[in-house]
Amino acid sequence: MIASTTIVDEILDLKKQRHATLLAHHYQEPEIQELADVIGDSLELARKARDFSGEVIAFCGVWFMAETAKVINPGRVVVVPDRDASCSLVESCPAEAVRAFRQSHPNHAIVSYINTSVEVKAESDILCTSRNAVKVVNSIPRDQPVMFLPDRNLGAFVKRKTGRENLEVWEGACFVHETFPARRLAEARLEHPRAEVVAHPECTEAVLAMADFVGSTSAIIEYCSSSDVREFIVMTESGVRFSLQRQSPGKRFYFVANEQCNCSECPYMKLNTLEKLRNALRDLTPRVELSPEIMARALVPLERMLALK
Ligand code: 13P
Ligand code: SF4
Repeated sequence: MIASTTIVDEILDLKKQRHATLLAHHYQEPEIQELADVIGDSLELARKARDFSGEVIAFCGVWFMAETAKVINPGRVVVVPDRDASCSLVESCPAEAVRAFRQSHPNHAIVSYINTSVEVKAESDILCTSRNAVKVVNSIPRDQPVMFLPDRNLGAFVKRKTGRENLEVWEGACFVHETFPARRLAEARLEHPRAEVVAHPECTEAVLAMADFVGSTSAIIEYCSSSDVREFIVMTESGVRFSLQRQSPGKRFYFVANEQCNCSECPYMKLNTLEKLRNALRDLTPRVELSPEIMARALVPLERMLALK
Protein backbone atom coordinates (compact mmCIF):
# COMPACT_ATOMS: atom_id res chain seq x y z
CA MET A 1 0.00 0.00 0.00
CA ILE A 2 1.43 3.37 -0.99
CA ALA A 3 1.12 5.85 1.85
CA SER A 4 2.40 8.99 0.20
CA THR A 5 0.69 11.02 -2.45
CA THR A 6 3.41 12.66 -4.53
CA ILE A 7 4.72 10.84 -7.53
CA VAL A 8 8.27 11.00 -6.23
CA ASP A 9 7.21 9.37 -2.96
CA GLU A 10 5.28 6.74 -4.89
CA ILE A 11 8.36 5.92 -6.94
CA LEU A 12 10.57 5.74 -3.87
CA ASP A 13 8.08 3.46 -2.09
CA LEU A 14 7.72 1.19 -5.11
CA LYS A 15 11.47 1.07 -5.51
CA LYS A 16 11.75 -0.23 -1.95
CA GLN A 17 8.88 -2.71 -2.28
CA ARG A 18 10.29 -4.09 -5.53
CA HIS A 19 13.93 -4.15 -4.37
CA ALA A 20 14.55 -2.16 -7.51
CA THR A 21 17.59 -0.28 -8.74
CA LEU A 22 17.05 2.75 -10.91
CA LEU A 23 19.65 3.21 -13.65
CA ALA A 24 19.47 6.42 -15.67
CA HIS A 25 21.33 7.54 -18.76
CA HIS A 26 22.65 11.13 -18.85
CA TYR A 27 20.04 12.06 -21.47
CA GLN A 28 17.09 11.52 -19.14
CA GLU A 29 15.01 14.41 -17.79
CA PRO A 30 16.56 15.99 -14.64
CA GLU A 31 13.69 14.82 -12.39
CA ILE A 32 14.45 11.22 -13.37
CA GLN A 33 18.21 11.64 -12.91
CA GLU A 34 17.55 13.06 -9.43
CA LEU A 35 15.93 9.78 -8.36
CA ALA A 36 18.49 7.46 -9.97
CA ASP A 37 20.80 5.15 -8.00
CA VAL A 38 23.28 5.41 -10.84
CA ILE A 39 23.58 7.94 -13.67
CA GLY A 40 25.98 7.03 -16.41
CA ASP A 41 26.94 6.57 -20.03
CA SER A 42 26.14 3.34 -21.81
CA LEU A 43 29.38 1.61 -20.71
CA GLU A 44 28.98 2.57 -17.04
CA LEU A 45 25.35 1.48 -17.03
CA ALA A 46 26.24 -1.88 -18.60
CA ARG A 47 28.88 -2.37 -15.88
CA LYS A 48 26.48 -1.31 -13.12
CA ALA A 49 23.82 -3.68 -14.43
CA ARG A 50 26.39 -6.45 -13.94
CA ASP A 51 27.22 -5.44 -10.34
CA PHE A 52 23.62 -5.03 -9.26
CA SER A 53 22.12 -7.26 -6.56
CA GLY A 54 18.34 -6.44 -6.32
CA GLU A 55 15.34 -8.03 -8.03
CA VAL A 56 14.21 -5.37 -10.52
CA ILE A 57 16.09 -2.95 -12.74
CA ALA A 58 14.12 0.11 -13.79
CA PHE A 59 16.12 1.25 -16.78
CA CYS A 60 15.58 4.90 -17.61
CA GLY A 61 17.19 5.10 -21.00
CA VAL A 62 16.37 3.52 -24.33
CA TRP A 63 15.30 -0.03 -25.09
CA PHE A 64 18.64 -1.40 -26.34
CA MET A 65 20.28 -0.34 -23.05
CA ALA A 66 17.62 -2.23 -21.09
CA GLU A 67 18.09 -5.28 -23.32
CA THR A 68 21.80 -5.16 -22.47
CA ALA A 69 20.95 -5.08 -18.76
CA LYS A 70 18.64 -8.09 -19.26
CA VAL A 71 21.33 -10.07 -21.10
CA ILE A 72 23.60 -9.57 -18.09
CA ASN A 73 20.75 -10.35 -15.65
CA PRO A 74 18.62 -13.03 -17.30
CA GLY A 75 16.92 -13.96 -14.03
CA ARG A 76 15.91 -10.43 -13.07
CA VAL A 77 13.03 -8.25 -14.15
CA VAL A 78 14.08 -5.30 -16.31
CA VAL A 79 11.52 -2.59 -17.04
CA VAL A 80 11.67 0.59 -19.12
CA PRO A 81 9.17 3.44 -18.59
CA ASP A 82 8.28 3.68 -22.31
CA ARG A 83 8.42 0.75 -24.75
CA ASP A 84 8.81 3.16 -27.68
CA ALA A 85 12.13 4.53 -26.40
CA SER A 86 14.08 3.31 -29.41
CA CYS A 87 17.17 4.69 -31.18
CA SER A 88 17.77 5.67 -34.82
CA LEU A 89 20.99 3.63 -34.81
CA VAL A 90 19.16 0.45 -33.81
CA GLU A 91 16.64 1.09 -36.57
CA SER A 92 19.39 1.57 -39.17
CA CYS A 93 20.76 -1.92 -38.64
CA PRO A 94 18.41 -4.90 -39.09
CA ALA A 95 19.71 -8.27 -37.90
CA GLU A 96 18.99 -9.95 -41.29
CA ALA A 97 21.32 -7.49 -43.02
CA VAL A 98 24.08 -8.23 -40.49
CA ARG A 99 23.55 -11.98 -40.96
CA ALA A 100 23.83 -11.53 -44.74
CA PHE A 101 27.06 -9.54 -44.28
CA ARG A 102 28.47 -12.25 -42.03
CA GLN A 103 27.72 -14.92 -44.63
CA SER A 104 29.33 -13.00 -47.46
CA HIS A 105 32.33 -11.82 -45.37
CA PRO A 106 33.22 -14.77 -43.11
CA ASN A 107 36.68 -13.38 -42.25
CA HIS A 108 35.51 -10.02 -40.96
CA ALA A 109 35.34 -9.33 -37.24
CA ILE A 110 32.00 -7.69 -36.55
CA VAL A 111 32.34 -4.90 -33.99
CA SER A 112 28.92 -3.66 -32.93
CA TYR A 113 28.23 -0.45 -31.13
CA ILE A 114 26.10 -1.11 -28.06
CA ASN A 115 23.37 0.95 -29.81
CA THR A 116 22.10 -2.16 -31.63
CA SER A 117 19.30 -4.66 -31.08
CA VAL A 118 19.98 -7.82 -29.07
CA GLU A 119 19.62 -9.81 -32.33
CA VAL A 120 22.46 -7.82 -33.91
CA LYS A 121 24.57 -8.25 -30.78
CA ALA A 122 24.04 -12.00 -31.09
CA GLU A 123 25.63 -11.85 -34.59
CA SER A 124 28.65 -9.85 -33.38
CA ASP A 125 32.18 -10.79 -32.34
CA ILE A 126 32.57 -7.98 -29.83
CA LEU A 127 30.61 -4.92 -28.69
CA CYS A 128 31.84 -1.41 -27.98
CA THR A 129 30.52 1.88 -26.67
CA SER A 130 31.53 5.41 -27.57
CA ARG A 131 33.92 5.29 -24.61
CA ASN A 132 35.92 2.21 -25.57
CA ALA A 133 35.43 1.87 -29.35
CA VAL A 134 39.08 2.66 -30.21
CA LYS A 135 40.34 0.22 -27.57
CA VAL A 136 37.98 -2.52 -28.78
CA VAL A 137 39.06 -2.14 -32.42
CA ASN A 138 42.72 -2.11 -31.36
CA SER A 139 42.13 -5.44 -29.58
CA ILE A 140 41.44 -7.13 -32.94
CA PRO A 141 44.46 -8.47 -34.86
CA ARG A 142 45.60 -5.76 -37.26
CA ASP A 143 45.47 -7.96 -40.32
CA GLN A 144 41.86 -9.03 -39.76
CA PRO A 145 39.24 -7.00 -41.64
CA VAL A 146 36.61 -5.32 -39.47
CA MET A 147 33.00 -4.32 -40.01
CA PHE A 148 32.14 -1.54 -37.58
CA LEU A 149 28.41 -1.04 -37.16
CA PRO A 150 26.10 0.81 -37.26
CA ASP A 151 27.27 4.40 -36.63
CA ARG A 152 29.10 5.89 -39.62
CA ASN A 153 30.40 8.89 -37.65
CA LEU A 154 31.75 6.90 -34.71
CA GLY A 155 33.10 4.36 -37.21
CA ALA A 156 34.91 7.06 -39.20
CA PHE A 157 36.29 8.51 -35.95
CA VAL A 158 37.61 5.07 -34.92
CA LYS A 159 39.11 4.58 -38.36
CA ARG A 160 40.97 7.91 -38.10
CA LYS A 161 42.18 7.10 -34.57
CA THR A 162 43.32 3.56 -35.31
CA GLY A 163 44.59 4.24 -38.84
CA ARG A 164 43.05 0.93 -39.97
CA GLU A 165 42.47 0.76 -43.70
CA ASN A 166 40.74 -2.61 -43.34
CA LEU A 167 37.86 -1.19 -41.27
CA GLU A 168 34.54 -0.92 -43.07
CA VAL A 169 31.74 1.16 -41.64
CA TRP A 170 27.95 0.59 -41.74
CA GLU A 171 25.70 3.38 -43.03
CA GLY A 172 23.75 4.21 -39.86
CA ALA A 173 23.61 7.43 -37.89
CA CYS A 174 22.24 9.02 -34.76
CA PHE A 175 19.62 11.47 -36.00
CA VAL A 176 20.36 13.77 -33.05
CA HIS A 177 24.15 14.03 -33.23
CA GLU A 178 24.47 13.81 -36.99
CA THR A 179 22.24 16.84 -37.48
CA PHE A 180 24.15 19.30 -35.29
CA PRO A 181 25.23 21.79 -37.97
CA ALA A 182 28.93 22.65 -38.15
CA ARG A 183 27.86 26.15 -39.24
CA ARG A 184 26.01 26.72 -35.98
CA LEU A 185 28.99 25.43 -34.01
CA ALA A 186 31.25 27.89 -35.86
CA GLU A 187 28.84 30.70 -34.92
CA ALA A 188 28.81 29.56 -31.28
CA ARG A 189 32.62 29.66 -31.20
CA LEU A 190 32.55 33.27 -32.40
CA GLU A 191 29.97 34.10 -29.76
CA HIS A 192 31.91 32.37 -26.93
CA PRO A 193 35.58 32.79 -27.85
CA ARG A 194 36.86 31.56 -24.47
CA ALA A 195 34.86 28.33 -24.61
CA GLU A 196 36.32 24.95 -25.47
CA VAL A 197 34.33 22.59 -27.70
CA VAL A 198 33.53 19.12 -26.36
CA ALA A 199 31.78 16.63 -28.65
CA HIS A 200 30.33 13.15 -28.75
CA PRO A 201 31.88 10.97 -31.49
CA GLU A 202 28.45 10.38 -33.08
CA CYS A 203 28.77 13.96 -34.46
CA THR A 204 29.95 14.50 -38.04
CA GLU A 205 33.61 14.83 -38.95
CA ALA A 206 33.09 18.57 -39.65
CA VAL A 207 31.93 19.07 -36.04
CA LEU A 208 34.60 16.79 -34.54
CA ALA A 209 37.29 18.71 -36.46
CA MET A 210 36.41 21.79 -34.36
CA ALA A 211 36.39 19.90 -31.03
CA ASP A 212 39.02 20.28 -28.31
CA PHE A 213 37.83 17.02 -26.75
CA VAL A 214 35.87 14.06 -28.17
CA GLY A 215 34.37 11.45 -25.85
CA SER A 216 31.36 9.60 -24.49
CA THR A 217 28.81 11.46 -22.38
CA SER A 218 30.55 10.60 -19.08
CA ALA A 219 33.99 11.29 -20.57
CA ILE A 220 32.76 14.78 -21.58
CA ILE A 221 31.45 15.41 -18.05
CA GLU A 222 34.74 14.24 -16.49
CA TYR A 223 36.79 16.34 -18.94
CA CYS A 224 34.81 19.51 -18.18
CA SER A 225 35.02 19.08 -14.41
CA SER A 226 38.76 18.38 -14.38
CA SER A 227 39.65 21.23 -16.80
CA ASP A 228 40.71 24.74 -15.72
CA VAL A 229 38.60 26.14 -18.56
CA ARG A 230 35.34 27.78 -17.38
CA GLU A 231 33.19 27.68 -20.53
CA PHE A 232 32.29 24.86 -22.91
CA ILE A 233 30.26 24.44 -26.06
CA VAL A 234 28.75 20.97 -25.66
CA MET A 235 27.99 18.97 -28.80
CA THR A 236 25.76 16.25 -27.42
CA GLU A 237 22.28 15.77 -26.02
CA SER A 238 21.36 18.51 -23.56
CA GLY A 239 20.45 16.07 -20.75
CA VAL A 240 24.14 16.05 -19.82
CA ARG A 241 23.63 19.56 -18.42
CA PHE A 242 22.35 17.94 -15.17
CA SER A 243 25.68 16.24 -14.33
CA LEU A 244 27.81 18.97 -15.95
CA GLN A 245 26.36 21.57 -13.61
CA ARG A 246 26.37 19.28 -10.58
CA GLN A 247 30.03 18.35 -11.07
CA SER A 248 31.22 21.75 -12.31
CA PRO A 249 29.26 24.41 -10.43
CA GLY A 250 30.10 27.89 -11.65
CA LYS A 251 31.18 26.78 -15.13
CA ARG A 252 29.13 27.72 -18.19
CA PHE A 253 27.79 25.30 -20.80
CA TYR A 254 26.35 26.22 -24.18
CA PHE A 255 24.44 23.80 -26.39
CA VAL A 256 24.08 24.00 -30.17
CA ALA A 257 20.62 23.20 -31.51
CA ASN A 258 20.01 21.12 -34.60
CA GLU A 259 17.84 22.46 -37.39
CA GLN A 260 14.89 20.04 -37.22
CA CYS A 261 13.66 20.71 -33.69
CA ASN A 262 15.85 23.70 -32.88
CA CYS A 263 16.85 21.74 -29.79
CA SER A 264 19.54 19.26 -28.77
CA GLU A 265 17.29 16.57 -27.32
CA CYS A 266 16.85 12.90 -28.17
CA PRO A 267 13.08 12.44 -28.58
CA TYR A 268 13.39 8.74 -27.70
CA MET A 269 15.15 9.41 -24.41
CA LYS A 270 12.61 12.08 -23.54
CA LEU A 271 9.67 9.63 -23.85
CA ASN A 272 10.39 8.48 -20.30
CA THR A 273 8.55 10.46 -17.62
CA LEU A 274 8.08 10.17 -13.87
CA GLU A 275 4.49 8.96 -14.37
CA LYS A 276 5.61 6.21 -16.73
CA LEU A 277 8.42 5.25 -14.36
CA ARG A 278 5.93 4.97 -11.49
CA ASN A 279 3.65 2.81 -13.64
CA ALA A 280 6.53 0.59 -14.75
CA LEU A 281 7.58 -0.05 -11.16
CA ARG A 282 3.98 -0.66 -10.11
CA ASP A 283 2.96 -2.95 -13.01
CA LEU A 284 6.40 -4.36 -13.92
CA THR A 285 5.76 -3.53 -17.54
CA PRO A 286 6.95 -2.63 -20.22
CA ARG A 287 9.31 -5.49 -19.41
CA VAL A 288 12.22 -6.77 -21.47
CA GLU A 289 11.55 -10.43 -22.37
CA LEU A 290 14.19 -12.28 -24.41
CA SER A 291 14.71 -15.90 -25.30
CA PRO A 292 17.46 -17.71 -23.34
CA GLU A 293 19.13 -18.57 -26.64
CA ILE A 294 19.41 -14.96 -27.86
CA MET A 295 20.62 -13.80 -24.42
CA ALA A 296 23.32 -16.48 -24.33
CA ARG A 297 24.54 -15.51 -27.82
CA ALA A 298 24.51 -11.76 -27.13
CA LEU A 299 26.32 -12.26 -23.82
CA VAL A 300 29.47 -13.55 -25.56
CA PRO A 301 30.43 -10.30 -27.38
CA LEU A 302 29.22 -8.26 -24.41
CA GLU A 303 31.46 -10.15 -21.96
CA ARG A 304 34.39 -9.77 -24.37
CA MET A 305 33.94 -6.00 -24.25
CA LEU A 306 33.48 -5.88 -20.48
CA ALA A 307 36.61 -7.98 -20.00
CA LEU A 308 38.73 -5.30 -21.75
CA LYS A 309 40.24 -3.11 -19.04
P1 13P B 1 27.15 7.09 -24.47
O1 13P B 1 27.89 5.83 -24.78
O2 13P B 1 28.03 8.28 -24.46
O3 13P B 1 26.31 6.92 -23.27
O4 13P B 1 26.18 7.37 -25.70
C1 13P B 1 25.01 6.65 -25.89
C2 13P B 1 24.16 7.32 -26.86
O5 13P B 1 23.08 6.87 -27.15
C3 13P B 1 24.68 8.52 -27.48
O6 13P B 1 23.73 9.11 -28.26
FE1 SF4 C 1 20.07 6.78 -30.22
FE2 SF4 C 1 20.97 9.18 -30.90
FE3 SF4 C 1 19.05 8.98 -29.10
FE4 SF4 C 1 21.56 8.21 -28.50
S1 SF4 C 1 20.86 10.29 -28.97
S2 SF4 C 1 19.66 7.08 -28.04
S3 SF4 C 1 22.21 7.36 -30.47
S4 SF4 C 1 18.90 8.38 -31.25
